[in-house]
Amino acid sequence: MRNRFHSLCPYFAMFPETFAEAWIKRLTRRGDWVLDPFSGRGTTPLSALLLERRAIASDINDVAYCITKAKTNAPSLRTLMARIDELEASFDARHWAAAARALPEFFGVAFSGRTLQQLMYLRQKLEWRTKKSDGMFAGLVLGALHGDVASGGYLSNQMPRTISTKPAYSLRYWAKHKQAPPDRDVFDIVRQWAAYRYKSALPVGQSHIMQIDVRKLSNIEVTIPKNLRCVVTSPPYFDTTDFEEDQWLRRWFLGAGNEPKSDQRNSDDRHRREDRYWRFIADTWRSLGSVLAKGANVVVRIGGRRLRPDRIRSALAGAACFSGRKVELVSWDVSKLKNRQTRSFRPNSDGIGVEIDCHFHLV
Ligand SMILES: C[S@@+](CC[C@H](N)C(=O)[O-])C[C@H]1O[C@@H](n2cnc3c(N)ncnc32)[C@H](O)[C@@H]1O
Repeated sequence: MRNRFHSLCPYFAMFPETFAEAWIKRLTRRGDWVLDPFSGRGTTPLSALLLERRAIASDINDVAYCITKAKTNAPSLRTLMARIDELEASFDARHWAAAARALPEFFGVAFSGRTLQQLMYLRQKLEWRTKKSDGMFAGLVLGALHGDVASGGYLSNQMPRTISTKPAYSLRYWAKHKQAPPDRDVFDIVRQWAAYRYKSALPVGQSHIMQIDVRKLSNIEVTIPKNLRCVVTSPPYFDTTDFEEDQWLRRWFLGAGNEPKSDQRNSDDRHRREDRYWRFIADTWRSLGSVLAKGANVVVRIGGRRLRPDRIRSALAGAACFSGRKVELVSWDVSKLKNRQTRSFRPNSDGIGVEIDCHFHLV
């Protein structure tokens, strides 16, 4: 059975676990460390733990950080259920009604009154950055926050599960289709998802999960192990998506503002100019060069709009000189997977043009 923590919460431009697993098995042994500096939904670190390796992961986005941390630092089901009961017992709807009404119109059509009040309460109460059980609670809410009404497992009015649609578009869509929000109890929905996910074995093992810019990898307080020799990662694709904006509602739940925003926390999500994009990739190589041991392998899935595969390969390989190390391109391939990373997400989109996989060796 596929480990059910993998699908805790979708993430735009995520790669399948088969990709991470195949490379981790091929390039590492039990106990080795594996790094993903653009961890997204946390597939590389979770796969590493499930394969009895150790994981280091970071990402600049708070949604990515929350779900990666939840998957790799899961509390026991018993502890989680006790925390859900405890928070439910101290919820008092009367304290949240006025604050819920004061939110922008979007929220009152996206969620029923009761659901919204519970979400606002949890948004304030959950200590998701510091408490294991709250981290998993928040991860489960993020996974259930929006999706298909008919499935019964999501909290919102009709929305895609993958990205948060913008307020004006959503309001037009709900009005046109005469759709009202379902009345869901957040605590019950989270209990249901928890029971489903915990049918899989809990991932255990050592991991360091951080929320940082890739450029800061070498100045962090967690000591990067000296024998770090494997990276399996996927940077933001060229001119493809803005992770901050596309995850705005999930970011709201984690404490961000009431409107979609881009470039607030990060301006590397969607580079539209090639020179700036490759400079960012060069910075990434510089960071990797400073933390990786001799003989390390770096596997990169990368793509973009308006770029040809050989152009991506040569620019990525060319930028490797900024690592300050001797880097060999061992192999590269145009991704053959049927469901390309970016295709399956944005409704009605063809996704990006090109996606390639490159394997590098640092001598
Ligand atoms: C293609 S996605 C990674 C998807 C991931 N492989 C998965 O399966 O979910 C790229 C990630 O890079 C992150 N990112 C963008 N700029 C960054 C930066 N400067 N430092 C660290 N992470 C960054 C984004 O937040 C996004 O999660």
